[in-house]
Amino acid sequence: MTAVNDNKPRVLSGIQPSGNLTIGNYLGALKQWVEVQHDYDCFYCVVDLHAITMPQDPVELRQRTRESAAMYIAAGIDPEISTIFVQSHVPAHSELAWMLTCMAPLGWLHRMTQFKDRTAKQTQESIGAGLLNYPSLMAADILLYHADLVPVGDDQNQHLEFTRDLAQRFNHLYGDTFTLPSVMNPQAGARIMGLDNPTAKMSKSEASENHAIFLLDELPRARKKIMRAVTDSQREIRFSDEPERAGVNNLLTIYQAISGESNAAIEAHFADKGYGDLKRAAADCVLSTLEPLQARYYELMNEAGYLDSVLRLGREKASAIADETLKLAQERMGFLAPS
Ligand code: TRP
Repeated sequence: MTAVNDNKPRVLSGIQPSGNLTIGNYLGALKQWVEVQHDYDCFYCVVDLHAITMPQDPVELRQRTRESAAMYIAAGIDPEISTIFVQSHVPAHSELAWMLTCMAPLGWLHRMTQFKDRTAKQTQESIGAGLLNYPSLMAADILLYHADLVPVGDDQNQHLEFTRDLAQRFNHLYGDTFTLPSVMNPQAGARIMGLDNPTAKMSKSEASENHAIFLLDELPRARKKIMRAVTDSQREIRFSDEPERAGVNNLLTIYQAISGESNAAIEAHFADKGYGDLKRAAADCVLSTLEPLQARYYELMNEAGYLDSVLRLGREKASAIADETLKLAQERMGFLAPS
């Protein structure tokens, strides 16, 4: 076992295997995970327990869990440096989540905007209780590892605040147990919106054909989706937060996130060009990202036993830390230790 990560602040994050990963997941999360892995002791989790807060097909869930883990590696997360694991492989997540659920005020849970959004169109009868308790499970994920920093999109900031509040409550009631985590939002511009509806965040579980670019889309298909992206009836190509200009802004954001050029340089570059040019340029950027990523992905999936060995090691490393934290929390809460 290496001990090189021992003094680095710890990072933990996760993505649900509730759909195929999109370019939004890559630019808004995975790319940042890769960038921070040398500076922090990183734990990256495939959060299957969160995925089942919405109905999942068992065969697909299992398949996507493996695929997500492979995609983390294909995106550049190095399993020799970072810990990659599956949430349900470490039962401490479920156990601490229950303890935290019992302490989480219903009022806090009902105030979560993600819960309100996801349940807005459903009846009380069709909403699983897990959707309400989702933030307590996320808090368990983070607190088990004493994570200092949690890289997430800004739509998750409220869940992070909830985690801090709950940790503080526990520490206050039972004595100092958990580290209070801080949020780490990706640099401006990494929030990718739906290509067909640029005022909503790109989602891996949205059904319409031209909504998302999946990381495993065949390249011509990915290009076609960008060429069909919704824009507007104006001509000017510049970054903007006006809702009517969200489509053009989204294409510029994708171009910016991949090219790394400054906003000013990009606007100057497109000053005398049209939307067709912008789309072609954004598509070229996306394809230049997808091509090597897909090559690496298929190589990994064909390497028998490799992915399993990564997940086995990840589980061991994660369990060692999580089990210890769980034990301490159980002791503090007053559970009788098994003899
Ligand atoms: N709720 C997060 C999302 O939907 C996923 C998640 C679950 C997560 N557990 C986490 C993110 C712990 C960071 C840390 O994006």
